[in-house]
Amino acid sequence: MEMNKLVSGLNQKKYSSAISIYYRGDLDFKLAEAIIEYVWLNKGDRHNFQLIKQDKAKVYKMNFNACDYYLKSYAHRSVTKILKNFFRPVEAVRIFKTGIKLINADIAIANPVMALTCKKNLFITDSIFVMEKVPGVELYTYLLKFAQYSENFKINIIKKIALLWSRLVCHKFIHLDPGLRNLMIYPKEGDFQIKLIDIDNIYPMSYVPIKLILMKNLSRLRRIMLSDVSSTKIKALTSLEFSMFFFSFIKDCKGMVEFDGLKQIFKFLNL
Ligand SMILES: Nc1ncnc2c1ncn2[C@@H]1O[C@H](COP(=O)(O)OP(=O)(O)O)[C@@H](O)[C@H]1O
Ligand SMILES: [Mg+2]
Repeated sequence: MEMNKLVSGLNQKKYSSAISIYYRGDLDFKLAEAIIEYVWLNKGDRHNFQLIKQDKAKVYKMNFNACDYYLKSYAHRSVTKILKNFFRPVEAVRIFKTGIKLINADIAIANPVMALTCKKNLFITDSIFVMEKVPGVELYTYLLKFAQYSENFKINIIKKIALLWSRLVCHKFIHLDPGLRNLMIYPKEGDFQIKLIDIDNIYPMSYVPIKLILMKNLSRLRRIMLSDVSSTKIKALTSLEFSMFFFSFIKDCKGMVEFDGLKQIFKFLNL
């Protein structure tokens, strides 16, 4: 095995000439090996893996040494993606780096564990992002099924989402996929905790003015939150509840954007 290298804050270890492991802190090599064997080498133990979803990425749940992990496996074959990836880090490595930035900003996300890359040829590199499992249920499901019973409880949840969002904006991240299915909720110490999963579409934008970040985030958020309708046509959040969210969010953002700036954004978003 080769010596470990440090690649912009991440450790890198070669598994083979084509496959690399990127990690922080201690490497659980056996975990990496189990994943590589299952996803790329078609061997090893299969019964610890469960395919959860297959969209742009394949999402697997994995049990290893009594811990649960979630993996996202990226294998793009579209020409645009391949061209784009020519000029930026491989998917899983980029997402792993974003994850570390989010953790450093104290934003609650699924703990990132490692990123794996497998070079297929000159143009194509497949990759896998590995994270810990977050307990609980998707916030979307939760709001539909349980939270309708107590309006106070729902308001409490809305305040928590608003706080999370103000932290994202404060630290200059834009989130292009802010659906309620990408947030998990679980009970913790007599209260409850909300955590972000699916950080693929979060981008650090430290060089963009905060007003623009706020505008981009809010317009996307409103569109997605209010269109997140179940098959029964029940909305997880009503527009009144979204307004509640918005005012709570603005309170949490106080000091970031001056009042005139906020008025402009209100106007722009038709609020
Ligand atoms: N770290 C995690 N902990 C718990 N559940 C997860 C985790 N990552 C993904 N999931 C589950 O898998 C689903 C799909 O994962 P997601 O990353 O949102 O994929 P996609 O990019 O296709 O939306 C999530 O909605 C969630 O239910
Ligand atoms: Mg998702």
